[in-house]
This record gives sequence, C-alpha cells and structure tokens, in this order.
Amino acid sequence: MSEDVWVFGYGSLVWRPDFKFAERRPATIEGWVRRFWQGSTDHRGVPGAPGRVVTLEADEKGICWGMAYRIAAADVEPIMVELDYREKGGYSVKNVEMIFPTDDHPNVTGLAYIGTPDNPNYLGPETEERIAAQVVASTGPSGPNDEYVLRLAEALRELGADDPHVFELERQVRKLI
Ligand code: BEZ
Repeated sequence: MSEDVWVFGYGSLVWRPDFKFAERRPATIEGWVRRFWQGSTDHRGVPGAPGRVVTLEADEKGICWGMAYRIAAADVEPIMVELDYREKGGYSVKNVEMIFPTDDHPNVTGLAYIGTPDNPNYLGPETEERIAAQVVASTGPSGPNDEYVLRLAEALRELGADDPHVFELERQVRKLI
C-alpha cells in the first residue's frame, strides 16, 4: 500500500484501538447514526446467544461521533488483515467522509466497518430497554457485553458527543447491573 489510510472507529475502536496508528483525532460522520443492532457471536456473545454491538444506520439528519485513526502506509497491509479478522462477524467496509469538529484538520475519506441488514449477524431495531436486557445476559471471548456498552458511553462522554441511543442504553444497563 503506497498511501496512508484513515479508519473511522465508532465502537470498541473508540477506546481500544489495538493496532499501531500514526495519529488519532475525534471525528464525526454525517448521514449516519450508531445503533446496537448488530449481533456479536465472536466478541461479546457466542453462537446461539449473541450479544449486541454497534453498527451504522443511514439517517439523513444523523451525525455519529467517533475516533479517526491514520495508519501509516507501511503499516496498512498487516493492520487491515488484522482488522478484517477482528471484525469478521458480518461487517463490510465502506468509505465515509470524516469531519474534525475539534480542530481545523481538513476532512478526510476513510474506511468504516458497517453491519448491513443483509449480514447473518444483523439483529435490527429494538427498544433500548430490551437491548439492555440482552446486553446484561451476554458475554463472549472479548468479555461481558455490558462492559462494551459502558466503556463506549464513557468514551463518548469524554469526546463531548451527543448520542441519545447510547446514553439511554447505558442508563438501562445500569438499572440492571
Ligand atoms: C469500531 O469502530 O470499533 C468498529 C465498529 C464496527 C465494526 C468494526 C469496528
């Protein structure tokens, strides 16, 4: 690969980017919202008892906050192989335009992993109350599902992000634990 690549993290990559990156910046993407509508049978759940993790849903007026990572050209190939393996549970890769609201860096186009409705692990819409019940009952090889929700909410709060779905889910999870 001859060029640096930007990756948009909006789930566990916000707080746990376990790959080498050249820089990272808080970023938003417009026209998308984050939703706990993707099932996880390989990280926060198991086959037959999936947890719930995030995906992106197109929404004309939506904005999704996350973290943008620049991967240096020399590191791109091994890291993309690693990320594709880590996110193998039904996600596909899409180009998104990242905006940097907290600094004056120009917009960049980069990659985001999206669980579209046609993937086998997609679970789809549900109330935050019911998602919370599933989350607290689920655990997988990467740890308990409630940890994923709570850490994401905490990281988004630190970014100053507005995300009613995640914060309501956090509230519902805290009621149950
Ligand atoms: C993430 O941003 O952590 C992420 C979300 C969905 C799939 C892969 C990574």
